Amino acid sequence: TLKQHLAEVEAFSSTSKDEIEAFRIKYLGKKGLLNSFFAEFKNVPNGQKKEFGQAINQLKTSANEKVNTLKQAVENQSETQGKYGDLTRPGEPIEIGARHPISIVKNRIINIFSRIGFNVSEGPEIEDDWHNFTALNLPEYHPARDMQDTFFIQTDPDILLRTHTSSVQVRYMENNRPPIRTISPGRVYRNEAISARSHCFFHQVEGLYVDKDVSFADLKQTLQYFTSEMFGKSKIRLRPSYFPFTEPSAEVDVYWGLETETDYKMTKGTGWLEIMGCGMVDPNVLQNCGIDPEVYSGFAFGMGIDRIALLLHQIPDIRLLSENDIRFLDQFKSSL
Ligand code: PHE
Repeated sequence: TLKQHLAEVEAFSSTSKDEIEAFRIKYLGKKGLLNSFFAEFKNVPNGQKKEFGQAINQLKTSANEKVNTLKQAVENQSETQGKYGDLTRPGEPIEIGARHPISIVKNRIINIFSRIGFNVSEGPEIEDDWHNFTALNLPEYHPARDMQDTFFIQTDPDILLRTHTSSVQVRYMENNRPPIRTISPGRVYRNEAISARSHCFFHQVEGLYVDKDVSFADLKQTLQYFTSEMFGKSKIRLRPSYFPFTEPSAEVDVYWGLETETDYKMTKGTGWLEIMGCGMVDPNVLQNCGIDPEVYSGFAFGMGIDRIALLLHQIPDIRLLSENDIRFLDQFKSSL
């Protein structure tokens, strides 16, 4: 009946050109259903003509519309799939890497110090004796050289792998006049047994401030600013210490929220955690770098990035930082 045909027309759908054409012929072709209904029209009794006529017309409109929309859809599709492939396909996500925890912590430290006017300086990892030791008030045969187990280049005792980035500060002072405000991040090397807690290379950020009237109070306040930015609300404690290149020298301990057992272990149970060395730049060092200690004074500090990264991210073994295990690195995806 007409009603059934109308339902069939409305339900019809296809993306195949052939099927759509077959459908068109079936309804709208010369020998199609519609023409045969129109032919029947004259035999319909007068009383039913109106209703029958409306029904055929409705069927005709529906069939026409259906054929047109389906044809249009097929055409649009073949257009987008043509030259460029299917432009409507969803994109494939690009694998985004993660920053290394060392970089995350290093960038944070740089950011904190850049806000109070420190720039970033870098230098070579393969150093000479002068920049790593002698200029820093560590003459040959000075016992303090033993504090840092040094890798020497076999053929030349003057060439070594830097044991700290203080060498960069020497280079910076040789090439720049005060006021100097610079931090020197970088990799350093020491001939130590590799374990969960120490490695033969690690990373440091050292800072240097040289100007007229720089005082120990300036140093202390700078460190307080740094630790509260880095660790949140925290107390610091300065313990007298010794470094050949600073006088007086101190070791900086920080005390901050200890919530987990790992925190507790890493502080060896005291709650205070040693995070850096610091002091007022020894006048001999300024002199060695061509800066007049009668006019200028300065402070310096140095800290290990790896240790801070272990702490902040509760990493139990320092070796994880250099193994490049993707399962480890992946965990830092959300950090900048
Ligand atoms: N250079 C020292 C080290 O590697 C750290 C330090 C830097 C200490 C500056 C005092 C002043 O251990």
